[in-house]
Amino acid sequence: MEFSLSKLQEVEAYIPSVNQWKEFFLVYKFGLEEMKTKINILQDEFQMMRDYNPIEHVKSRIKSPDSVIKKLDRKGLPISIENAKKHLHDIAGIRITCSFVSDIYLIFEMLKKHDDLKILKVKDYVANPKKNGYKSLHFIVEIPVFLTSKTEYVQIEIQIRTIAMDFWASLEHKIYYKFDEGVPAKLLHELKEAADLVNYLDIKMKKINDEMEFYKEVRSAKSEEL
Ligand code: GTP
Ligand code: MG
Repeated sequence: MEFSLSKLQEVEAYIPSVNQWKEFFLVYKFGLEEMKTKINILQDEFQMMRDYNPIEHVKSRIKSPDSVIKKLDRKGLPISIENAKKHLHDIAGIRITCSFVSDIYLIFEMLKKHDDLKILKVKDYVANPKKNGYKSLHFIVEIPVFLTSKTEYVQIEIQIRTIAMDFWASLEHKIYYKFDEGVPAKLLHELKEAADLVNYLDIKMKKINDEMEFYKEVRSAKSEEL
């Protein structure tokens, strides 16, 4: 392989930017850690004070540098830290899976009260499901990260959904990726039917839960009478 001086200069010019990219991703990691702590606190307080935990599980991820570059490219944007920061809102993501639909809004309302969080964009696919049947509450938050010499603000995409919605979305995602040339119409139709069943299940489980709560209250009222 031949190395010209200009090529070497090009490579040298690239080296500091590798560190800048490293720092860029690190700040997202810090932001994600802060956000996860907020959710953990909610979860622990719920369990301790209310003896009820609306959160089933929490998953988080940071986009790989490769996916960031591919997404910028797909959007027709030059590859730069500035563009990634400005145009990609899902470099850091958190998915909260909860028990019931009402829990989705309960958690959302609680996070909205955090003074240090700025809610930038909300997409309510629970109230307005996508045509294929996809449901979830999406929003972007901006969180400050206090570094040694500056404060950086990072965006995190938060998705909140029920276990049933999550079950459907995971399978739909797998099917979608299996078929490069588009999912066959029959499967699309069946997926939509499955989404309707998932919706029914969410309503049914909530009803059962409410009835259970009712019986619990009646029982404790009776035992107080004794
Ligand atoms: P991206 O550019 O793909 O990130 O999407 P967007 O900017 O149009 O945002 P949107 O909020 O609609 O979707 C973001 C994320 O939600 C996706 O990356 C998926 O994780 C999830 N999502 C959205 N639509 C669907 C869907 O139809 N099926 C499944 N399984 N997931 C979806
Ligand atoms: Mg995305």
